[in-house]
Amino acid sequence: MTKPYYITTPLYYVNASPHIGHAYTNILCDTFARFHKLLGEEVFFMTGTDEHGTKIDRAARDQKKEPKAYVDEMMPKFKELWNILGIEYDYFIRTTDVNHKKAVGNILRDLEAKGEIYKASYKGWYCVPCESFWTKLQLVEGKCHDCHREVQELEEENYFFKLSKYQDWLIQYINDNPNFVRPEMRRNEILGFLREPLEDLCITRPRTRLAWGIDYPTSKEHVVYVWFDALINYVSGVGFTIDEKKFKKLWPADVHMVGKDILRHHTVYWPIMLKAMGVEMPKTVLAHGWWTMAGTKVSKSRGNTVDPVELSKKYGVDAFRYFLLREVTLGLDGAFSEDLLAERYTSDLANDLGNLWFRLASMVDKYFEGRIPDVGAGLKPALINEFSNFYEEVTSAMKNYDPRTALNIIWKKITVLNQMIEEKKPWVLAKDPKRKSELAEALCLLAEWLTHVAVLLLPFIPGTAQQILKRLKLKIEWMIKSGEEFSKPFLKPGVSVERGEALFPRLDEKEAAQH
Ligand code: MSP
Repeated sequence: MTKPYYITTPLYYVNASPHIGHAYTNILCDTFARFHKLLGEEVFFMTGTDEHGTKIDRAARDQKKEPKAYVDEMMPKFKELWNILGIEYDYFIRTTDVNHKKAVGNILRDLEAKGEIYKASYKGWYCVPCESFWTKLQLVEGKCHDCHREVQELEEENYFFKLSKYQDWLIQYINDNPNFVRPEMRRNEILGFLREPLEDLCITRPRTRLAWGIDYPTSKEHVVYVWFDALINYVSGVGFTIDEKKFKKLWPADVHMVGKDILRHHTVYWPIMLKAMGVEMPKTVLAHGWWTMAGTKVSKSRGNTVDPVELSKKYGVDAFRYFLLREVTLGLDGAFSEDLLAERYTSDLANDLGNLWFRLASMVDKYFEGRIPDVGAGLKPALINEFSNFYEEVTSAMKNYDPRTALNIIWKKITVLNQMIEEKKPWVLAKDPKRKSELAEALCLLAEWLTHVAVLLLPFIPGTAQQILKRLKLKIEWMIKSGEEFSKPFLKPGVSVERGEALFPRLDEKEAAQH
């Protein structure tokens, strides 16, 4: 039996409502998950929320709430957004889940028993307003790394995880496995970082300083550092130390999708934690870039958030998904502007795809009483090759984690189909009764190609793609399973087509309808 495709998102901090950055990661993962399902693979897609640590504790206190009550109130905002954006996850993990906490305890006990953890006195520089400890190296001109205010030297007892012991192993591992850290530029960044000696990782906080965390299993005075706790979700969520059968079935993850700001946690701490635990490495850690506005990262603390719910309401979920997937190459930063989104909506979605459907459906209506013409012996065999090349190209871009290229290939085809209409001029053929079979063949061919386009669009813009297939009376629970299946014609001859409303109404009309 082949192993299911296991894809993860980071766990989002619940101290603010989700914004475009979070939506982007989940839309990417959802698209890959759907694509692998389309290929007939079993998929396990996990997302969730990161609910411990200083940030959350402080946000709760600011609102005069208990941390648990606060996270219980915030977490549903994420589920609601995923629901709106059509994110089909298989499991939603919270770091406050009992099973997760159990797994963290089990792992720590095991690592301590193996001698991977030690207790030591820790001297560091503490920023009181940020409640953060910094090492000397992390200070910026002697001041707090985050807020640049004065710091004070503090000493406390903590537990440490032996990161440094595995530095040489990690460098070798990254060198030997070119797909482990992607894209290449991030791999180089991490190898560069690893040229400096690694310090062991302080994995606890004294309870007197921070009580909102998982209990450290062998000391009542400590709680677990939030990152050590959160990273474990990738294995605890699939049953590690709790349900070994499930774990064996799903681990290793095929890909951890992360933002470039949390690369180090995922490509230094996490692989070393796994190595010390004696667990296999995930296949790939893939870092995407940031969505920026006026050159700065979109984030709550910078106060420039972009609300995914509003944009999805205004332009439709598929247009929002399409924009994020098409506008930037996965890995690079993208400048967000609503104008660009509106431009993509009009040019790519309304004009290219929307019009293609509208023209085809109208001609089928007008010349063949709404039925896809039956061309007897069927379409030319050469087409089989063309379908299969199209499928191979899109699939290979997606397997290479490049949804932008995949969409470029699909849109090139859409452009060709629109050109075909211009060149064939079905309205001229229709005037000549002797050319009726030529007309039938042209429309049948267009309809067949559009069907293939719609099938490959299912992972990217599921609502629209399903709508097209439904109008062509095709089942939407599609599974291709192989390139060979994709090479065949999909349409039943003579099937009646439902023209329907515009797939992407003009923006001015859409707005008028919303008021
Ligand atoms: N809780 C940690 C992750 C723990 S994973 C075991 C965390 N949470 S976060 O909510 O701050 O960020 C989650 C993800 O959102 C990160 O991958 C981050 O890169 C991404 N984004 C936040 N703002 C972003 C943009 N403006 N653009 C793109 N993604 C960004 O870090």
